[in-house]
Amino acid sequence: MRSPDVTVQPEISQRERAAMGAANRLKLGLFGANCSSGRAVTMVPERWSGSWSDCVALAQMADEAGIEFMLPIGRWKGYGGDTDYQGATFETVTWACGLLAKTRRLTVFGTVHAPLIPPLIAAKEFVTADHIGEGRFGLNVVCGWNEGEFEMFGATLRDHDTRYDYAEEWLDVIKLAWSPREDFDFDGQFIKLRGVRAKPKPYGGSRPLIMNAGASPTGQGFAIRNCDALFSNISNGISFEETASHVKNVRALARQGGREIDVYTVGVVTCRPTAREAEDYYRHCIVNNADWRAVDNILAMKNITAHSHGPEEFRRIRNHQANGMGGLPLVGDPDAVAREMAQLTAAGLTGIAVSFVNYLDELPYFCAEVLPRLARLGLREKT
Ligand SMILES: Cc1cc2nc3c(=O)[nH]c(=O)nc-3n(C[C@H](O)[C@H](O)[C@H](O)COP(=O)(O)O)c2cc1C
Repeated sequence: MRSPDVTVQPEISQRERAAMGAANRLKLGLFGANCSSGRAVTMVPERWSGSWSDCVALAQMADEAGIEFMLPIGRWKGYGGDTDYQGATFETVTWACGLLAKTRRLTVFGTVHAPLIPPLIAAKEFVTADHIGEGRFGLNVVCGWNEGEFEMFGATLRDHDTRYDYAEEWLDVIKLAWSPREDFDFDGQFIKLRGVRAKPKPYGGSRPLIMNAGASPTGQGFAIRNCDALFSNISNGISFEETASHVKNVRALARQGGREIDVYTVGVVTCRPTAREAEDYYRHCIVNNADWRAVDNILAMKNITAHSHGPEEFRRIRNHQANGMGGLPLVGDPDAVAREMAQLTAAGLTGIAVSFVNYLDELPYFCAEVLPRLARLGLREKT
């Protein structure tokens, strides 16, 4: 009998993986659908369920519409408040496996806390997901920041920069396990392994895409050295020039190290036929019916208080947090949303991962109205 790693598979290049099956200049993804309430810290009854049947329906709708990827959140413990915000969450690699089995084109990421899972188990899980998806699995490496979550695992959160040192070794092991190399030893500062053997290899002769969303210089440096993509949170109020210069800088640093890197951001879409309707719905969900107790719990975990940041800045951060945990708000009619997305491409970004209050209810309108506009602007192929 032939072993699974010698089964004939079509070759997939690393470049094809980065393109996620389409030549679109602006790549689109959906962020956060594996968690109850998704990214909107709101009490409105139509908020996202995060149920498996809704996730499958959403993935199939996105697949059909030519959306390139789905990116889950690695979250283990809800934030309380009136809704227990993100209290029900699917583990992301098994979630990805299920969605990959039920879709044809979509890249599905797993978001994995490096310190919480031994690298060899992780490497093999990712290979399994990658074979299920025939080369469509992607990895979002996160190092963790939430102490309460780590306590649930009996794990200790290392100091900030050491988290990234650990993650770099963890990723080195995974890349070695994925490589054609046969048996190997690994002698790192944190990880020591003997006689490692891992088969099969990822699907199609290349490896899954790897991304990270570090914001600090250490986090960004980690992504630049080790990852195919960096997700940067571009907040409201950052100018076009600042965004463009950030993207240029990240790409230049990667090139200095002999690498190429894509830069993505995250956004929160409220798109309605008129600007007025969009703004009204935004205010209804994210201001009048925000789950403020959950917002304050999240901010307290990050040591953000009126005392530490001053009342004015605290109010600004608080409002921003209720809306998609801080993603770029894209609120308006289809022309305005398409125009803002075009600006992101002009600033050099590769793509954007978006969320909605209710993904399934709102994606059809976005696909019907915004996607054709993006195609007319030359940013995406017609679907
Ligand atoms: C797009 C995006 C996705 C992220 N996903 C997660 C996640 O799922 N789980 C998590 O614990 N942290 C997540 N983070 C937090 C980052 O991994 C990182 O800890 C944070 O941006 C702070 O950056 P720093 O570690 O460089 O200080 C995400 C951040 C962004 C911008």
